[in-house]
Amino acid sequence: MSKDIQSYLLGDKIFQPDYNIKKNNYFIKDLHAYESLCLESKLDPEEFWKKYAIGFLTWHKLFTKVLDESNPPFYKWFSDGELNVSVNCLDVNLTNGNANKVAIIFESDDGQIEKISYRELFVRVCKFANGISKLGYKTGDKCIIYMPMSIEVIIAMQACARLGIIISVVFGGFSSKSLQERITDIDASLIITADYQKRGGKIIPLKDAVDEALSIDTSNKIRNVIVYKRTDKDINWFSSRDIWMFDLESNQDEYIDPVFVNSEHPLFILYTSGSTGKPKGIQHSSAGYLLWAKMTMNWTFNANPTDVFWCTADVGWITGHSYIAYAPLSLGMTQVIFEGIPTYPNSGRFWEMIDSHKVTIFYTAPTAIRSLVKSSDLNKEVHPNNFDLHSLRIIGSVGEPISPETWLWYYTNVGKNKCSLVDTWWQTETGGHMITPIPGVTPLKPGSCSFPLPGIQASVVDELGDEVSPGKGGFLVIKKPWPGMIRNIWNDSERFKNSYFPDELKGYYLAGDGAQIDSDNYFWILGRIDDVLNVSGHRLGTMEIEAALVAHKLVSEAAVVGRPDATTGEAVVAFIVLKGKYPEKHEDLEIAKELRNWVSQEIGPIAKPKDIVFLENLPKTRSGKIVRRLLRLKASGQSITQDVSTVDNISSIEKISISF
Ligand code: WTA
Repeated sequence: MSKDIQSYLLGDKIFQPDYNIKKNNYFIKDLHAYESLCLESKLDPEEFWKKYAIGFLTWHKLFTKVLDESNPPFYKWFSDGELNVSVNCLDVNLTNGNANKVAIIFESDDGQIEKISYRELFVRVCKFANGISKLGYKTGDKCIIYMPMSIEVIIAMQACARLGIIISVVFGGFSSKSLQERITDIDASLIITADYQKRGGKIIPLKDAVDEALSIDTSNKIRNVIVYKRTDKDINWFSSRDIWMFDLESNQDEYIDPVFVNSEHPLFILYTSGSTGKPKGIQHSSAGYLLWAKMTMNWTFNANPTDVFWCTADVGWITGHSYIAYAPLSLGMTQVIFEGIPTYPNSGRFWEMIDSHKVTIFYTAPTAIRSLVKSSDLNKEVHPNNFDLHSLRIIGSVGEPISPETWLWYYTNVGKNKCSLVDTWWQTETGGHMITPIPGVTPLKPGSCSFPLPGIQASVVDELGDEVSPGKGGFLVIKKPWPGMIRNIWNDSERFKNSYFPDELKGYYLAGDGAQIDSDNYFWILGRIDDVLNVSGHRLGTMEIEAALVAHKLVSEAAVVGRPDATTGEAVVAFIVLKGKYPEKHEDLEIAKELRNWVSQEIGPIAKPKDIVFLENLPKTRSGKIVRRLLRLKASGQSITQDVSTVDNISSIEKISISF
């Protein structure tokens, strides 16, 4: 934890909130209301959280204890309460006037549209849950979901929640090897998948990857693979194990009693990259998680009954959990779910869809915006100015820092200078937004995620946990527990404690990001302080990619670092020492291609190194540690000016010049 964090050049232009958005704001009306909520949450946190937990959630058994701090950092929230998440997302909408309201507008890759009302969704979830239940699955069992964006993936997630089955959704872009590791780690007995997925005009197999994953580790406990039929293409079929999702649903009862679970019952485990070779299974609770997802949906997106919300994330990531699968439903919203990609059939797809579905709140990632800026520079026809985007009132950003330049483009061309732009900082571990503007309320500074939400005690500290002065960089921490926080790392409590609550930081939650607070109290995120890269908004552990590379028969050693990239934010650069002969050219195209494909097979295409550099040796300290900071400098095209007299093998990187 002794990394230098450079101070950032602060932007100084402030954009005032739009009056029309303010008018719609039912929850936090102005800065004064925001400040009093923050104060309320500080003066009496128990009362603050209790009020929201009672007001926002439907309980089967009301809790008597708000926060159990007896065993930090293993905090428990509302721990003697009981509820069911699917009741809070579906049943509540049958009696509040939303039964016939459209819950999901699904648009497929090829532009087909399907709508489903809250009542219809409820019935399909119940029928599917009845099917799973009859196969013998019950509360506490573990299920892997490996599906494309669809109405069916929401049905799968909600049906499991109804039965108390713990899920882990694996992003469809992960390889069979990554899938196998997750199946093994959570000890799953059920998989729900699809035959294929359609993305950008391509048909990509999913069930094949499941079959392969199950053949890698034959000691797995999987009894059934339920398959959503997305195409007419054939797949391999194991009749004692495989079942079509539609067959399982048909002829089932249209109602099933929910299983009420304890507040702390794990709703899901979501794997994300960390500083070691092995991804961490982030464990979330039922009540606290849902409460925070719902509260933040209200505050950050000012969710109104007439809104059409569209979050472009995949359900395989936390954004797709909190702001697709759970919070919008819990608020009875209408949301768009999209199967495809922003550039197919052309880069006007997002703008066309906002227009055709009259989207009012649009939530996407800076990487998508950057690629669309580039496309609309090249082809004016796909520029947002050619589309009617007047339905929009709030636009959002998530997953990585948004540069002031990209922010301005988004604000001007998509938001037409009238929408609030909410730059939401949060993480898989936080469950929901943490630092973000309130639309129509917070004056906006491009590139800053502004202020912490009420109830969130965020700060920037030094190595000893002491607050740094304004304008100075430090570690972003959250000083007090909050209901949506990570509960544990699945199967690894030690790693949970060490990664997030290191002793020297006074018991604060360490986010893993560098940040600074300016003199107006605005937060600026400076990027990760650990060995985690953020490529196109996806978290990738450098150690994980290194572990995959050294597993290849030609590779002796590998060191992976990030470098800035104009489109993807960061790009993966791998420095490789091959077994045997050092290639003539440091970029040997054939071997580099093979290694890229290898990483794609081992982890998934998102982890493919963009650049591969072959070296004779890696630069190391006398004790044998790879000196990554030198590799980082080299990867980003900078020259090495530091004293390197104590670094072994330095000549190996000094003699190559890299231009990407
Ligand atoms: C980064 C995504 C700057 C950050 C919800 C964090 C951001 C990591 C922002 C979490 C933002 C997320 N500004 N950086 N608005 N939002 N990040 O777990 O480095 O996939 O630690 O959760 O993304 O990524 P994760």
